[in-house]
Amino acid sequence: MKCRSCDRAVMFDLYRAARPLLFAIPPEAAHAVALCALNISSRLGLLSSLPNPASPIDLLGLRFSNRLGVAAGLDKDGVAIDALCRLGFGFVEVGTVTPKPQSGNARPRLFRLRDDRALINRMGFPNAGIEALATRLQQRTSRGLCGVNIGKNALTSLDEAATDYLTCLSAIYSNADYVAINVSSPNTSGLRRLQGDDLLSPLLSRMLEARNKLAREHNRVVPLLVKLTIDLGDRLTDAARTVHKSGIDGIIVTNTTTSRQALRYAGNEEGGLSGAPLLNRTIDALHRVRAEVSSTLPIIGVGGIASAADAIAVRRAGADLLQIYTALIYRGPQLINEILSALASE
Ligand code: FNR
Repeated sequence: MKCRSCDRAVMFDLYRAARPLLFAIPPEAAHAVALCALNISSRLGLLSSLPNPASPIDLLGLRFSNRLGVAAGLDKDGVAIDALCRLGFGFVEVGTVTPKPQSGNARPRLFRLRDDRALINRMGFPNAGIEALATRLQQRTSRGLCGVNIGKNALTSLDEAATDYLTCLSAIYSNADYVAINVSSPNTSGLRRLQGDDLLSPLLSRMLEARNKLAREHNRVVPLLVKLTIDLGDRLTDAARTVHKSGIDGIIVTNTTTSRQALRYAGNEEGGLSGAPLLNRTIDALHRVRAEVSSTLPIIGVGGIASAADAIAVRRAGADLLQIYTALIYRGPQLINEILSALASE
């Protein structure tokens, strides 16, 4: 019989051994190597029996095996969903994906801020396009929950943005467990303007109308969420109110920030900042959003969670589900277990 804690220990040791090598190569190359290694470990059965210390939760009409998920951007094209679920995550949000494939911004476009336990990225949604993702999702063998985060192509004007979101929604409808409407990435010119009420309300009503039609055709309701940014400041609660009033199923707070105020060291590169410096602002934003919307509206809290204590603080600020990205790079898979254990004994 296989020893589950041995499997877990092997994974932790592998990451500990590989980390200095990964940090010695450019971040985007390290990312590709890590995803590839994760897939190989999964195929070798190294992740197949990792125990899961958290209890299941019903939300958004779905059963999550636990409250912790992978944030968008880590697995943009859905190449490692099953492996990420086997690591212990209760759900994986893939994307951002756009209707047409696109290469994103020029490299280098991802930067480590090691002393701040942070990253800056200006990726600009490089992805293989929604059709490629739909095909990949159809070929999945395991059934961990998968949300699909959708956006607009860089060359699509804001006036035409709704068409891009609608194209993505219908292409992915049969294969997504939920769909996240990304109107908050800082690296696609003008995208964040979609968070203003004048553009957000009409976009969301078109998305809901299309979703309701698809739900009738497919006999299945796929929940829609909207991902917002803390950079809205006081306007964040206005955007949350607009989302809530529209009838959208949930909110994700927060995307990366263009602010550098919480950095202890210089972060001169342009792009979105993620990781530990976001945590306090994420918590503050969640308190404000939760106070604005009904206590039953599902909220996913993301931004700077790097420990079990951070995860509990984000829960207490009003998040039902949590996501991580940057801290996984710095801490490795051990963090998943730490957070799940804390959530299980909440
Ligand atoms: C991201 N994030 C992101 N979000 C999104 O909605 N669509 C995307 O394509 C991406 N891409 C992306 C790339 C990289 C390299 C990073 C680091 C982040 C944002 C991410 O989902 C999350 O909201 C923030 O990173 C904050 O969480 P962490 O990283 O502090 O846990």
